[in-house]
Amino acid sequence: MQSASEEEFNLREKEYFSSMLNPLARKKSGDDPIFRWFSRYLQAKENGIDAVNGTLGSLIDDSGELALNATVIDSLRNQVGHDMAGYSPLRGIPAFRELAIDLALGQYRPHIPAVASSIATPGGCGALYASACNFADPGDKVLLRDKHWGPYKTILSENSLNIHSYPLWDSNLELRASLSELALTQNRILGWLNDPAHNPTGLSLSAEERKNTLSCWLDSAQDNPEIGHTLLIDAAYHLYAKEPHGWAETISKIENWPNNLLILFAISCSKSHTIYGMRTGALVYLHPEPEVHSKLEEVLLHTGRGTWSGAPRLPQVALIDVHQNQLNEWDDEKNQLKAILTNRRRAFNEAIASNSIEVMPNDDGYFAFIECNNPEEVCESCAEDGVFLVPLTGGIRVGICAIPASEMPRVASALAKALR
Ligand SMILES: Cc1ncc(COP(=O)(O)O)c(C=O)c1O
Repeated sequence: MQSASEEEFNLREKEYFSSMLNPLARKKSGDDPIFRWFSRYLQAKENGIDAVNGTLGSLIDDSGELALNATVIDSLRNQVGHDMAGYSPLRGIPAFRELAIDLALGQYRPHIPAVASSIATPGGCGALYASACNFADPGDKVLLRDKHWGPYKTILSENSLNIHSYPLWDSNLELRASLSELALTQNRILGWLNDPAHNPTGLSLSAEERKNTLSCWLDSAQDNPEIGHTLLIDAAYHLYAKEPHGWAETISKIENWPNNLLILFAISCSKSHTIYGMRTGALVYLHPEPEVHSKLEEVLLHTGRGTWSGAPRLPQVALIDVHQNQLNEWDDEKNQLKAILTNRRRAFNEAIASNSIEVMPNDDGYFAFIECNNPEEVCESCAEDGVFLVPLTGGIRVGICAIPASEMPRVASALAKALR
């Protein structure tokens, strides 16, 4: 029971809140489930439990340390004071902006039938934010697949945007129907597509699926010339996929690029260069008309200036150095990290199959996903066995990026027990 003065205090506290927070801010709530379950893993470790961490989206080596690409870390250490502490140009350092375009398009860059530009952002999240802020109207619905990274919803709601989802597994009928519906109700359409190495399933679209998806967007743009169409490819994990530049290949085959179609890449250097906390990335934009680029540069510069100012300088300088002077070393290290992921994925899929558990098809990257109706309960049961995973809507995300291959049988048997 609360005492009268406690109740009074709580009431007064609530009044303070409502006078300070605007109505939109008052609706914001909730802890990130990923970090909540990671804290539970840490707590279990602290209590002396032999716990397995399948919660975080960071590549962890078999001894439990963050896996680092040493070439990048050495380059960060080797930069001069000015580059460590100074501001970056607001648009990003020119050589970094070029690098970001290369990271997005790879060897297909010369074949893209459009002009390519970029602006540096604080990570892929900054790129997503800048697109939400500028390529949709407040109140609009943004097209997402039904399984998507949880913070998408947060970024959208920060921009007063809602979600229109279509199935992750789609013959493209649903995507076509969704585009038609939005073209009737909105002035512009923005879609975010996290591919390849989708978070949270590990799924990558095939060349055929990419082509069909792009056709839906091209057809919709052609059929609705007054409606702006912006397709953003979220490439947060692409350099760990079997076809890192598959989307650039697909885009290189566009024959008649409609003027009302803009294609963006949200580039994140968090995973590809193991600099998660250094907030480095870019928004790469492709459109055939140079005037569109001049306008977009102003618009995106404005968003950056009014939100985070400029992206950090040090990681941009370090990555320019790595890609100009130590490309092979960086690539070798990245391929070693990729091999760890492949090995763990194989071990996970084998262990899951031998326990007769169904897992969603998974190809690349950091995660795998088990569909179920009671993810919280299943994760609670796994936690009792010392295995910490993340319950999401419709299933459980397994961070294979953090689990040694040798622990996969244990993860699978905890899941089998919980799902029974
Ligand atoms: C699907 C997806 N998109 C974008 C990001 C953004 O990454 P960052 O802002 O660290 O570059 C992440 C990070 O986990 C992600 O999982």
